[in-house]
Amino acid sequence: MRVGVLTGGGDCPGLNAVIRAVTRKGIETHGWEIVGFRSGWQGPLTGDCRPIGLDDVEDILARGGTILGSSRTNPYKEDGGVEKIKKVLADQGVDALIAIGGEDTLGVANKLTGEGIGVVGVPKTIDNDLDATDYTFGFDTAVHIATEAIDRLRTTAESHHRALVVEVMGRHAGWIALHSGVAGGANVILVPERPFSVNKVVEWTQRRFERQYAPILVVAEGAIPENGAEVLQTGETDAFGHVRLGGVGTWLADELARQTGKESRAVVLGHTQRGGIPTAYDRVLATRFGLHAVDAVAGGEFGAMVALRGTDIVRVPLSEATAKLKTVPDERYAEAEVFFG
Ligand code: F6P
Repeated sequence: MRVGVLTGGGDCPGLNAVIRAVTRKGIETHGWEIVGFRSGWQGPLTGDCRPIGLDDVEDILARGGTILGSSRTNPYKEDGGVEKIKKVLADQGVDALIAIGGEDTLGVANKLTGEGIGVVGVPKTIDNDLDATDYTFGFDTAVHIATEAIDRLRTTAESHHRALVVEVMGRHAGWIALHSGVAGGANVILVPERPFSVNKVVEWTQRRFERQYAPILVVAEGAIPENGAEVLQTGETDAFGHVRLGGVGTWLADELARQTGKESRAVVLGHTQRGGIPTAYDRVLATRFGLHAVDAVAGGEFGAMVALRGTDIVRVPLSEATAKLKTVPDERYAEAEVFFG
């Protein structure tokens, strides 16, 4: 059997750990040939692929990024995209695909399953916003990076009696902001799920200054002010129609400086959250997802995604996995609010 593997969407730490696990178990347990498709769905569309052997995955467990490359290619935006993919898979003798990705990549995987292509999904995203799994790998690493940044920013903020606004990733869901904000002792956490009152944020910030502390505010890139809109640097969208976010941190820091008369600075953590080595937690989760994805392919369970439920890896239909996003519930946000101001 020849099994293809691809990584799509934004990269994240742990992708290589999945590729390694798929390759090791696929070859050693099942005697499969593994084919790596490059650059997400671009690979199966164009035939850009290469065999992956045990040597290729020898040193990649702890390496960030993906040895296969990634892209946000949407085959449904290409003329005859599905037919092209079917032809490439037939030409390459590939019987099944393991697609590692987030909502967009797995949404395509789900549609391709409906077209008769054998796909098993593996959930990844630093945003942790896939509803069908308790956690996606990449999230833990991103939270660690953001928390370390907050710890560092706190000491410089205190030295200069400034407010520091830390903008983290999180398009539709504020999980990174929530977890890094709680772990870093932030005085305000703003998430896309809860439009924020600028007046309230100013009040919390002032209260912190009055107590001789330097306020730390963590804001998700997708957070929006009440009666406002997302802050965008450009109007650029990707192949799945997502607009490029970024800028709310700088906007808020300027607003705070204007309204409090105190110095404010914004730091955008951006892609540092996606780069570098995965945490031990992400390495283990990614490895387990890879092993279980191989089991799903071996069992012919196409149209399934592997998912974490508690400490178990289970399989859920891709259709269910991509149906809705996992957002921060009110009660989780309320826990963090106790520490605001
Ligand atoms: O992969 C998810 C994500 O990291 C989002 O949090 C962020 O909005 C987006 O990717 C950024 O994408 P890009 O790397 O294409 O700018």
